[in-house]
Amino acid sequence: MTSEFAVELRDVVKRFVTPEGNEIAAVDHVTMQIKNGEFFSMLGSSGCGKTTSLRMIAGFEWTTEGEVYIEGNPMGHTPPFQRKVNTVFQSYALFQHMTVFQNIAFGLEMEGAKEDEIKQRVGRALEMVQLTGMERRKPKQLSGGQQQRVAVARALVKTPDVLLLDEPLGALDLKLRKEMQLELKALQQQLGITFIYVTHDQEEALTMSDRIAVMSNGRVQQIGTPVEIYERPSNKFVADFIGESNFLDGQIKSLSKDEAQVFIPALNTELRGIPISQGLVKGEDVVVSIRPEKIRITEKNAKNDNFFKAKVTNTVYIGADTHVYTESQGVKIKVLEQNHISRLDTSSFYTVGQEVGLVLMPENTLVLKKV
Ligand SMILES: Nc1ncnc2c1ncn2[C@@H]1O[C@H](COP(=O)(O)OP(=O)(O)O)[C@@H](O)[C@H]1O
Ligand SMILES: [Mg+2]
Repeated sequence: MTSEFAVELRDVVKRFVTPEGNEIAAVDHVTMQIKNGEFFSMLGSSGCGKTTSLRMIAGFEWTTEGEVYIEGNPMGHTPPFQRKVNTVFQSYALFQHMTVFQNIAFGLEMEGAKEDEIKQRVGRALEMVQLTGMERRKPKQLSGGQQQRVAVARALVKTPDVLLLDEPLGALDLKLRKEMQLELKALQQQLGITFIYVTHDQEEALTMSDRIAVMSNGRVQQIGTPVEIYERPSNKFVADFIGESNFLDGQIKSLSKDEAQVFIPALNTELRGIPISQGLVKGEDVVVSIRPEKIRITEKNAKNDNFFKAKVTNTVYIGADTHVYTESQGVKIKVLEQNHISRLDTSSFYTVGQEVGLVLMPENTLVLKKV
């Protein structure tokens, strides 16, 4: 392979004119570099521009501005069939009147491949998705998961360098979806080809991806590994979108490379945290973000740094964890405690109205841009 990147979007814009006559930027100056062999996800809520980005990579849409590169080559108006990518669509779009074999063979027949070759390649694709022996079935005679695998096999049979998958598990129930997530991830690792995967499901993206692009309103908010996205969200949007967070509004009092002192008016206290977002400045109105599982509950009179008092307003025991809802001067803070020890004694739990202290480790106290 000639290029380090399987696919690259450089400052890509896609504008549509809606039937109402308004112009919208479905994709708004998006830049991303997807490495060879990577499992890369685009994650964002409905309408954020995921499908449009994927369709521009596939060649079903052309960019309004910017350029898509595949293997380092600018795609311009290269038609879909001349790009070494293939797409698995959300609705599998299987031909209902055709058998599994015919569905998978269809693309090869269109290319005019010979019968022997078709047989061999379809056989290999079926093996990859573990459907050997199901050749003669019609889609209706398969489970949802099996139909999904036929759709994947049909895309793989053309031996693409890059597989584009647009919410491919959207139609499956939760249990099957989780199985298929692991299966697709294993298949990707085994084949070593690049997957570009579109989903609105954060858990799915975290489970499967090497890297994730978090998108909103046609823009990329952050690109990073699952750990980076969760532990070091680059702004409030990402911290809010991925997992759960407590947010405290504040103002930066002092700032160095690895520490920010932030005054929190609502709590009338200062907290120490790490500056995460790029370009923070002293005096800036910011938001402090703390994940519920990273807060420690202590004695109300404990002598700790980065500490404030709070009152327990509710506790919810859910087996593995207990969710402890607290309030401090009108500010609601959720804490998640893991139940390390088996305990039946109800007095060992927090009671509503109990006064406690909350400790935030500075390294878990993230100072972020407000966007
Ligand atoms: N052909 C089109 N004409 C007009 N607007 C479109 C067209 N395709 C997509 N859009 C709009 O572009 C935005 C992004 O759409 P899409 O890429 O499908 O989002 P996602 O896949 O993230 O849900 C949406 O607001 C959608 O309504
Ligand atoms: Mg979509």
